[in-house]
Amino acid sequence: MKKALTFFSIFIVFALIIHSCKHEVPFFLFQNYDVDTTKFPCNADTVYYQNQIQPIFNTYCMGTECHSGTDPKENLDLSSYSGAINSGKIVPFNSSKSKIYKAIIETDPDDKMPPDINLSQDKIDLIKKWINQGAINNYCDDTQNPCDTSNITFSYTIKKIITDYCLGCHTSSFSVSLDTYTEIKNAVQIRNLWKSVNHDTGALIMPPDPAPKLSNCNIRKIKIWIDSGMPDN
Ligand code: HEC
Repeated sequence: MKKALTFFSIFIVFALIIHSCKHEVPFFLFQNYDVDTTKFPCNADTVYYQNQIQPIFNTYCMGTECHSGTDPKENLDLSSYSGAINSGKIVPFNSSKSKIYKAIIETDPDDKMPPDINLSQDKIDLIKKWINQGAINNYCDDTQNPCDTSNITFSYTIKKIITDYCLGCHTSSFSVSLDTYTEIKNAVQIRNLWKSVNHDTGALIMPPDPAPKLSNCNIRKIKIWIDSGMPDN
């Protein structure tokens, strides 16, 4: 009996080692590759891969000849959760050991990622928090959250939406700058900003594919601000 038990323990230890080498994440973490699309409301303390992390990868990591396609750089495909996690460059619960996190906080211009642009600190913090919360493939449905539309101001509400979702492209040097109050107001009046974010037919869809549409709550906030005469408050 004792012998059988020893044999069994050795077997378990080997199984553990072999499994964790293969996947580079301990098997007891039970990686769930299929995203659960049951409609959970978003919790403000949780970072959601599908809502918050994949959009960052889409905008900053997947350009031509980068981290997507048939021959992704560094064998790192960031076009999906399984590609990201299978790379072994993300260690769940441990951002400081995760190569992806090390690359985005790297200060050496030859090694840092993305190469030509700096991720904003809030995006870096989001990736860190997601890894430290276990790097799971989670999703939440923001239409289930109450949308707080009280106290909408330009400087707090609208500027934040534009900074988070648009300024990656629409900087002051871009053909359509959305950097200042006047530029944003002009974009609404002259460039159909509302139709673009609301995905009206015929409008230039913003943010562009593959980024997802803004949340219903953010779209409502923009609409309320426009309808109240776009105050500079
Ligand atoms: C990944 C880059 C990218 C992001 C992110 C992005 N845009 Fe754009 N946007 C573009 C490009 C490219 C154009 C076309 C520019 C041109 O016509 O010179 C454009 C054009 C526009 C236009 C002009 C549309 C027209 O019909 O003339 C508006 C308005 C606009 N974007 C608003 C937004 C808003 C609001 C966001 C954020 C919610 C956003 N964009 C996010 C790349 C982006």
